[in-house]
Amino acid sequence: MAPPRRREAGPVATLEQLLAAKEIVVACGSGGVGKTTTAAALASMAAVHLGGKVLVLTVDPAQRLATAMGLERFGNVETRVPREAFVAAGVEPRGELWAAQLDTKQSWDDLVARHAPDARTRDAILRNPLYQNITGRFVGGHDYIAMERLYDLHQSGVYDLIVVDTPPTRNAIDFLEAPERMADFFSSRLLRWLLAPYRSRIYNVASKPFYQMADRILGSAFLQDVAEFFMLFQSMYKGFVERARAVERVLEDRRTTFLVVSTLESAPVREAEFFIEALVQKRLHLGGLVLNKVLPGYLLNADATQAAARLCNDPAAVARLVAGDVGDTAQVERVLHEVGNSFLNFQVVAKREAETRAELSMAPDVVVAVPYFDTDIYDLAGLLRLGESVWTA
Ligand SMILES: Nc1ncnc2c1ncn2[C@@H]1O[C@H](COP(=O)(O)OP(=O)(O)OP(=O)(O)O)[C@@H](O)[C@H]1O
Ligand SMILES: [Mg+2]
Repeated sequence: MAPPRRREAGPVATLEQLLAAKEIVVACGSGGVGKTTTAAALASMAAVHLGGKVLVLTVDPAQRLATAMGLERFGNVETRVPREAFVAAGVEPRGELWAAQLDTKQSWDDLVARHAPDARTRDAILRNPLYQNITGRFVGGHDYIAMERLYDLHQSGVYDLIVVDTPPTRNAIDFLEAPERMADFFSSRLLRWLLAPYRSRIYNVASKPFYQMADRILGSAFLQDVAEFFMLFQSMYKGFVERARAVERVLEDRRTTFLVVSTLESAPVREAEFFIEALVQKRLHLGGLVLNKVLPGYLLNADATQAAARLCNDPAAVARLVAGDVGDTAQVERVLHEVGNSFLNFQVVAKREAETRAELSMAPDVVVAVPYFDTDIYDLAGLLRLGESVWTA
């Protein structure tokens, strides 16, 4: 059994304190900014330093992450990251790290199984071609099922901390609104309208020819499938709406917090600010902002700048000083010029990043910058290295 988790009281100024105080941490932000990496890194850090049972729930099917955590593959069922993987990375974890990946289809099936009034209805839904098609593509379905699965895992009480890696949503707030939209959908007029002919007694007489003709045009039993699907789904209406509301309450709970992840490029930053505003408006807890892939501060150092300028302006003089040991003077001169030039180019980007950072209109209590590592993060040691760089900063 994992030793009890270390909790800290008092004001929250670091990610360590934030994660110690919360039960659910949701990493969100625009595409490709490092949500999955950050979520996995912070969950690993929590397992190592805070102890207890920590779960990272990812929606990213990237095999890279499974490999990084020393797991061949992990699916909808939670899998423990072996202790040996931590030992190999040079640490003794206080607690346990578990990982689960969201299997959308499997999660929908589980949900139907839970809410269907009886086995016959359940099987009819699971067999329905429209259901089979829709569960993968349903607008918002993916976001909803991610939140739903989170709710389920949290309710189980098995984990002290769940770190969620959210899907790259078209609109970052989609998944926040997913439970509400799901509840709306089931009480919508559109749904009732679709079901009306099936519930009505005149269906047989009046609309059957229409349905038959539509089927001939749209393919075998298409509308029949649609109507059957909605009718069967309606039998789960109450359970679904109640459940969507409960999922919503978990997001609003003070034990839940959101971490916005962004790089310092203009588009992700705009999206991060928009998202932060949405969180504030919805009165959801904004725990922190993780600025990822930030260029190192030495790029703005005055002495370093002077040195780079000298390499650019007078590479010959520097080349004469070192050439004997390094190689041919002309080649060394070219390389030095290139190095100086490249430094100054990076500096332009670093300056822009610093400006963007200063302009951030809304900053939560915890703001951390993760350096841009020169290699991809491909193993647990890499995740922990990334985590260490921001854990107590
Ligand atoms: N600080 C960093 N330094 C270097 N590479 C990084 C850093 N953070 C993330 N990466 C790399 O950037 C890539 C994208 O990261 P990641 O998959 O975590 O982003 P994401 O936000 O989850 O993307 P998506 O929106 O597609 O799910 C990965 O290859 C990852 O290894
Ligand atoms: Mg991801």
